[in-house]
Amino acid sequence: MILRQMTVADLPAVMAIERAMFPLDAWSEGMMRGELADMPRSRHYVVALVDDEIVAYAGLAAAADQADVQTIAVLEKHQGTGIGSAMLTELLAEARRRRVREIFLEVRADNPRAQAVYRHFEFEEIGTRRRYYDDGTDAIMMRRKLDG
Ligand SMILES: CC(C)(COP(=O)(O)OP(=O)(O)OC[C@H]1O[C@@H](n2cnc3c(N)ncnc32)[C@H](O)[C@@H]1OP(=O)(O)O)[C@@H](O)C(=O)NCCC(=O)NCCS
Repeated sequence: MILRQMTVADLPAVMAIERAMFPLDAWSEGMMRGELADMPRSRHYVVALVDDEIVAYAGLAAAADQADVQTIAVLEKHQGTGIGSAMLTELLAEARRRRVREIFLEVRADNPRAQAVYRHFEFEEIGTRRRYYDDGTDAIMMRRKLDG
């Protein structure tokens, strides 16, 4: 498995994964392009390749001493093989390089799998955003403090 920075050329493969993994609330290609346009200033996006094929991606937004995990997804076939962990580790490393002190994220209340992964990475629940998602599902807000 290879991790590298995402580029605009990766968008077709990334958007295919986005639509497969988030059928209810996939980002548009325009949103993803907007994120890449802010790289490296305030964004850090990576893709993971297995046998030269993009199978996962993740992105961080950073401003001053705070950051957000914007998105993370691994193709179903490759889940549970450590790719999500490798990408989260890279986002945390980038946050440290940027002197971030707190990382936040939102996760669907009906996604216990992702919540478990984040808890594993020492994110803690800090609150709920009621009906945050378009289908009425709550978002759980999580935070991980870094040393700064
Ligand atoms: C959440 C997600 C990114 C995790 O990535 P992944 O590559 O599958 O995760 P990993 O293989 O790195 O596993 C991370 C941890 O999850 C746990 N885990 C692994 N497989 C699991 C499974 N089948 N069920 C529950 N937990 C599991 C383990 O605790 C593992 O830690 P370990 O290092 O002790 O083994 C991935 O499952 C995914 O893309 N899900 C769909 C999209 C999504 O929900 N994104 C998050 C939106 S907020």
